[in-house]
Amino acid sequence: MTGTLPRAITPELLWTGGCMAASVPGMLAHYSCYLLRGRQGAMLVDTGHPAHRDQVTADVLAFLDGAALTHIFPTHGELPHAGLLAHWLELFPQAVAVGDMRDWQLYLPQHSARFRQMADGDAVDLGDRRITFIAPIWRDLPDTLWAWDDTSRTLFVSDACACFHPHAPGQSDRFTSEVAPPDIAIMQDFNDKALHWPRYTDCRESAAAMDRLLAALDPAFLCGAHGAVVDDWRRMMPYFKAGMGA
Ligand SMILES: [Fe+2]
Ligand SMILES: [Fe+2]
Repeated sequence: MTGTLPRAITPELLWTGGCMAASVPGMLAHYSCYLLRGRQGAMLVDTGHPAHRDQVTADVLAFLDGAALTHIFPTHGELPHAGLLAHWLELFPQAVAVGDMRDWQLYLPQHSARFRQMADGDAVDLGDRRITFIAPIWRDLPDTLWAWDDTSRTLFVSDACACFHPHAPGQSDRFTSEVAPPDIAIMQDFNDKALHWPRYTDCRESAAAMDRLLAALDPAFLCGAHGAVVDDWRRMMPYFKAGMGA
C-alpha cells in the first residue's frame, strides 16, 4: 500500500487504473482495472480508462514481467471499461477479447476475428486458475458480464458495489477494511447516474439475489471499477444495498 495505484491484491492479481474528479465536488472516483496472471496466460479485466493509458500500460507490463497478455475482458462496452480495447489488441497480437462482444465488430472491424463471445457459465482456463463469466445482478448496460476467479476467490462486479469513500489523493489503493465506511448519499448519486435504473426500480429483490450469490461464492474480494476493493463483503453489503435504495 503506497497511497496510489497500482497495488498487488495477491501476488497474481494486480489492481491498477487511476482516479478522476467525481460528480460530487471534492470527491475522487476510481477507474480501476485488474490483471490476473496464470501459469498459461493472463487476463485483463476492463481495459483501463484512456485518460490513464500510460500509467495502466506501464503497470500491466511490469506485472506481466515479460509474459504475454492472452485475454482482455471488457465488462461492458463503455469508455472507462473498454476504451483501450484496441490498444491492448494491438500491443498483444496473440490476445483475444472475451466477454459479451455484441456490436464490437462495428467499432473494431479490423479485430473482429479475435472476439470470443462469452455468456453466463462460460470459462477461461489460465492453467492454474479458471475464470468463469457470470450473469450480473446489479448491471449497467445489457452487455455487462461479471467474472469469478476461483484461485483468488475474487468476484469482478464492474459498476456494482462501488465503494465511494471520502477520498483524497494518497488514498486510492485502499481496501474497504482500510477506509471509513462509504458515503450512502454519494453512492446513491453514483448508482442513479451510472446505472440509472435504481431511480425507478425497487431493488429489494435484486438485493436478495446478491445475498444468494455472495453466500454461495463467499468471495475474498469484490473488485469493481469505481471504488475501493472490497475485502469484507459481509460488513459492506448493508451500505451497498442502501446505496441502491434497497
Ligand atoms: Fe458503466
Ligand atoms: Fe463504469
